[in-house]
Amino acid sequence: MLIIPHPQEPFPNFYNDLNGSLQMAWKMLGRATKDRKAAFRTPVMASVSDDGPQARVLVLRAADIDRRELIFHTDTRSGKADQLGKDNRVAVTFYDAHRKIQLRINGIAQLHTSDTLADQQWRDASPNALRCFSAPLPAAPCALPSDHDGSEATRKTVAAGRQFFAVLSVGIVQLEWLYLHTHGQRRALFCWHEEQWKMQWLNP
Ligand SMILES: Cc1cc2nc3c(=O)[nH]c(=O)nc-3n(C[C@H](O)[C@H](O)[C@H](O)COP(=O)(O)O)c2cc1C
Repeated sequence: MLIIPHPQEPFPNFYNDLNGSLQMAWKMLGRATKDRKAAFRTPVMASVSDDGPQARVLVLRAADIDRRELIFHTDTRSGKADQLGKDNRVAVTFYDAHRKIQLRINGIAQLHTSDTLADQQWRDASPNALRCFSAPLPAAPCALPSDHDGSEATRKTVAAGRQFFAVLSVGIVQLEWLYLHTHGQRRALFCWHEEQWKMQWLNP
């Protein structure tokens, strides 16, 4: 019987490198804030509600490596804003199917409504991205949502939504890395401890 060997999947530089894996994680997070098509652009964030866990997709707006912080936008009237006011622990999960990398982040969320960060993020966002904040109360029952008329949003037309706009920052406490490879998976845990990353390989 002829055995055709499985072609060896190449090993990336970070394969057996804890520091390299962490750097790759930050690189992918940073890229996702600029590239709308990046897989890490739309992670799932889970929060704790009185009725159990709640998870939803959010757009990653910024990732600050020095502050170990992720930045999202949300509506102060949303369920998650209410949940985070009671319990600010969140889990954020990213997966890039092409690169076969999963990141599971645990962090502490904070809502910014009227500080310089909120003002700056509101100023820098495009009017189209801010249109939803002047919409009627999210999640309220309705006959059929009243759609916008298709006209281009402008600073003026979205201005009323500023009162409901919030920046949701997540201070990263722990980051778990998982890289899938045919030869063997690599799982690692990075914990921010005493002003530095404590890193450790884990069994996958
Ligand atoms: C691709 C995609 C991107 C989204 N981006 C955001 C976002 O940046 N901020 C946000 O609050 N909701 C976003 N949503 C909607 C949320 O997933 C969710 O439906 C909404 O925030 C209400 O969630 P909550 O009731 O748990 O607060 C997005 C949904 C999808 C599918």
